[in-house]
Amino acid sequence: MPRVLIIGTGIAGLFAALRLANEGFDVEIITKQRPKDSSTNWAQGGIAAILDKTNLEEIDGHIKDTLDAGDGLCDETVVRMVVEEAGERIQDLLSIGVEFERGKDGHFQLAKEGGHSSRRILHAKDATGKEIERALTAAAAAHDRIKLRPNTLAIDLIQREHRMPEKGVCGVWALDQETNEVLTIQGDAVVLATGGAGQLWEKTTNPSVSTGDGIAMAYRTGASITNMAFVQFHPTALVVEGGRPFLITEALRGEGAVLLDHEGYREWKASGKDDPRSFSFTLQASPLGSMATRDVVARAIDQRCAESGASHVYLVTEHLDKQHLEERFPMISNRLQRDGIELGIDPLPVAPAAHYIVGGIEVDAVGSAILNGTENPIPGLFAIGEVACTGMHGANRLASNSLLEAVVFAHRCSSHLIEEGIPSIDVSPPNWRSEGLYKLREHGPVAHDRTALNQTMRYEVGVSRRFSRLERAIRRLRLLEKEIDAIWKSSLPSREIVELRNMILVGILVAEDAIMRQENRGLHFNKDLIEDLE
Ligand code: SIN
Repeated sequence: MPRVLIIGTGIAGLFAALRLANEGFDVEIITKQRPKDSSTNWAQGGIAAILDKTNLEEIDGHIKDTLDAGDGLCDETVVRMVVEEAGERIQDLLSIGVEFERGKDGHFQLAKEGGHSSRRILHAKDATGKEIERALTAAAAAHDRIKLRPNTLAIDLIQREHRMPEKGVCGVWALDQETNEVLTIQGDAVVLATGGAGQLWEKTTNPSVSTGDGIAMAYRTGASITNMAFVQFHPTALVVEGGRPFLITEALRGEGAVLLDHEGYREWKASGKDDPRSFSFTLQASPLGSMATRDVVARAIDQRCAESGASHVYLVTEHLDKQHLEERFPMISNRLQRDGIELGIDPLPVAPAAHYIVGGIEVDAVGSAILNGTENPIPGLFAIGEVACTGMHGANRLASNSLLEAVVFAHRCSSHLIEEGIPSIDVSPPNWRSEGLYKLREHGPVAHDRTALNQTMRYEVGVSRRFSRLERAIRRLRLLEKEIDAIWKSSLPSREIVELRNMILVGILVAEDAIMRQENRGLHFNKDLIEDLE
């Protein structure tokens, strides 16, 4: 039976693995930490889905909202396909054992987030990803055709013929972090489901594993990487002195929470009014105020902080029913209490943080990675989930569309492999050559270079950009690239080196795509382009 190698254990990787294994394929999944260490596991809000495909009004509404959020750059065919397949994929998740919130009448309780014109988001309180990950990891662990290898870090894809990506890939070299051995893992098909790259930025809502590994490996193999300028910053990450940003789901704004700056908060309190909405600075950016799409809201916060010098604005919930908020958002409520903040009473200090990479490995309608400079797929190489750029999100992803896109493309990719079959590859991939390489002795330079990367991305390639700042970023990143190359060429691979090498490369891809753009769209905002128009 053909053997499929999947890298990553979020919703996309696990869903594809289960489907392939159920059809008799041998599947090996590698993941660099524990299976549950994925962005899926951290997703709070939910999965946007119209369950009834015949409800054309609702289907069209979801398509329209997705296209509007994507600011003219979505592939409409892909959007329609994903939205229309949602109901079937939700049924699949339910039959694997995922449980979404239901009301007393047994119907699903639906949430709303920014940019959605109606309630259509299935969720499991405020820990939807955790519930999805629980069910999928349990099913994968119990499957006798799935071999799960934790603590195994993919280093590079192996090409079937040296430097001939058009001939395809046949596996991966990966670091077994328990033995420090570099393994050669073969696959007749390799599916990258490695997630995003939020760790490039100093402030991110992503887990530590999100270091852009899949994008970097695919780029080095010759895959087309596209739309990298479109980095989504989540508007409301909790700002805590010395702590890492903690995501405050947009669903909280869906339940009525409002963004206010310090002045707006003071004015609202002084007014004695119940409803804070008319005091929100976000109204200057959009009539939807705090419920506008993420690009608009994150930019409004970023600009307000730049003007006032404040490190954050406030997400206000004290006008809402405290008990309802605590029941609906138990995870957030508990987390806030650790910092002495009471949901429904205290204003929450929030600021944007890197959240989702809209661009990525260019793929076709079944997730095949496209060879750079051509329209042809690279044989045997697939990408699904955040690592891929399918055309669904355009220039800005609509909230809660990513889990949906991931599961639909995981299904399409596995269906393709099942229906078309995979030719077994008759090659013996070469082993990793480690002669002449030494264990890194000085860790300081790698750690400093990572800090330099994080700060460069935060300050030069953040929510608002300028040509001169992007040029500065590219100069710095190229310097870091030289330094990591020198370390890479003389050292045995380790997680810190592999990840930094990948992150610097992905940072360059983001900055270079951004500097090339001559118009502001969706998530890409260059102040120089606005000033040129003035
Ligand atoms: C959120 O809950 O606000 C994040 C969900 C998403 O990124 O779609």
